[in-house]
Amino acid sequence: EKQGFRHYMLKEIHEQPGVVRAGLASFVNEADRINLKLPDRILDQIQNVQILACGTSWHAALVGKYLLEQLVHIPTSVQYASEYRYAPPPNLPNTLVIGVTQSGETADTLAALDLAKSRGDRCLGITNRPESSIGRIADSILDTQAGIEIGVAATKTFMAQLLMFYLLALDLADRHQTMPPDAIKDMVIGLRQLPAHMERILESQERYIEQLAHSFTHTRDFIYLGRGVNFPIALEGALKLKEISYIHAEGYPAGEMKHGPIALLDEDVPVVAIATPGKVYEKVLSNAQEAKARDAQLIGVAPLEDPVANETFDHLLPVPIVDEILSPMLTVIPLQLMAYQIAAHRGLDVDQPRNLAKSVTVE
Ligand code: F6R
Repeated sequence: EKQGFRHYMLKEIHEQPGVVRAGLASFVNEADRINLKLPDRILDQIQNVQILACGTSWHAALVGKYLLEQLVHIPTSVQYASEYRYAPPPNLPNTLVIGVTQSGETADTLAALDLAKSRGDRCLGITNRPESSIGRIADSILDTQAGIEIGVAATKTFMAQLLMFYLLALDLADRHQTMPPDAIKDMVIGLRQLPAHMERILESQERYIEQLAHSFTHTRDFIYLGRGVNFPIALEGALKLKEISYIHAEGYPAGEMKHGPIALLDEDVPVVAIATPGKVYEKVLSNAQEAKARDAQLIGVAPLEDPVANETFDHLLPVPIVDEILSPMLTVIPLQLMAYQIAAHRGLDVDQPRNLAKSVTVE
């Protein structure tokens, strides 16, 4: 069942390149054209997007917001389903509401989507369980092709949700003509190259991260920093660590550090910074250096090739350089591995962490 892996979570982390290949095979043709197989009434004339989700799916939604706003210029809000259902934002015309849920059974997400539907919004569900309850509520379903996930900590389903947001944003960029066709095609080609990069990360880093994990057996707090499209990945890295290793961890947009959280830093609080070449690269590196000046141990998810990154970080978890906007699909992997290895090293039940369930079917 676990095919030689110690836990389902590790198996599912390793399944991610395959999940991305399967998603691309389903929704992109040989000429690199995207077809999400959704009716035009779902995607035509959208002026606003509201995304509803919980937990890790909410983090995928935040990446989705970045893509929809930066690539398609559609105002997008991301709501916790548990908040939306009691305080929905004003009802706007031509709004697409997207519910994102791995299990398809999260009570809050279902109730929130049901409310959106009753307000007359068109509702799209993004899930790997099209046969689940969300299939009955949403007008249409985008099946992420990730299949069933067994480990409680979401990994491959998150990756598949990310891919769906890239494809959705590129499809809408084409409809709204906010990107030239060549630029869309280039990004699709970039997506196609990701699985091989992911395999390289998985092969090259597993041992190093396993050893690194030993240094954090007694650590009580972690801070994760990211900016722009990688800010949600900082949140996701922190959530993975909390869930399975029971270590307190917080994700912040790196530029917010100096507005309070920096007071937490000392030699006992390691800082993980996601720094990938692009618009905010130097900014994140300088935020990381500020943390270092407070004696924090610095772990960088950053390119191997850059001497500045090499010098800045005490520990480097290298990721290949890709278009910045595509980088979340790579940067999340070392963070999943790190959370896994720390929890495994602590001897915890990685696949079934305490107090958590795979489907949260109660409010
Ligand atoms: C994270 C995790 C939870 C879920 C959340 C939403 O690893 O397992 O945070 O992401 O409960 O679940 P779904 O996606 O099933 O709605």
